[in-house]
Amino acid sequence: MDSNQQNALKAAAAKAAIKEVPENTIVGVGTGSTVNFFIDELIAIRDRIQAAVSSSKASTARLKAGGIEVIALNDAGPLSVYVDGADEVTRQLAMIKGGGAALTREKIVAGASQRFVCVADASKLVPVLGKFPLPVEVIPMARSFVARELVKLGGHPEWRMRDDKAVVTDNGNWILDVHGLSIENPPLLETEINQIPGVVTNGIFARRGADVLLLATADGVQRITR
Ligand code: A5P
Repeated sequence: MDSNQQNALKAAAAKAAIKEVPENTIVGVGTGSTVNFFIDELIAIRDRIQAAVSSSKASTARLKAGGIEVIALNDAGPLSVYVDGADEVTRQLAMIKGGGAALTREKIVAGASQRFVCVADASKLVPVLGKFPLPVEVIPMARSFVARELVKLGGHPEWRMRDDKAVVTDNGNWILDVHGLSIENPPLLETEINQIPGVVTNGIFARRGADVLLLATADGVQRITR
């Protein structure tokens, strides 16, 4: 699949997600290239929603530029729906997320939402999570210790850098990308990694996985539920 085809599929999944958004509610909005298509769709129906709660500075900027009010999660109460992409997703609706370094805020907003709608193109569907390196957000002083603990779990952590500088999350932390994991039991590993002191959270979304997957394929958008 070339990038034009992949973008067309991302756009199709994003369009389908609009049907999952109840009228006159506050919408939880994820982060990433697929969600950017969803934000564009949301802007087109902005008069039919109250506001958005955003999972990143990047999504906040895009929402505001399109005239959508962005409010703090603390002022919103429980959200009816959260829409976000994934780096990998299984048919059981467990995911790896965090390729864009927004995993912690994504997990918070997802946790505060009644329904998680995952939007993805067909390339994201996998039988077992782990080929995509697992992002782990760490408090900077704990980086080296957490990396050693992740090696004990069988992974090969790599400190995420861009242009020779550490990638800094919206929360002021660093990311370790863990290669070489085959995640047979996603909720168990999610819990285990989150127990390591210094880990803010990891990119396995299984304890609170998606409720609906809108998977865009060449034959149309499949709606997969648990
Ligand atoms: C952001 O940190 C991620 O969790 C994204 O949701 C994930 O990387 C999917 O992004 P794309 O839609 O750009 O593939």
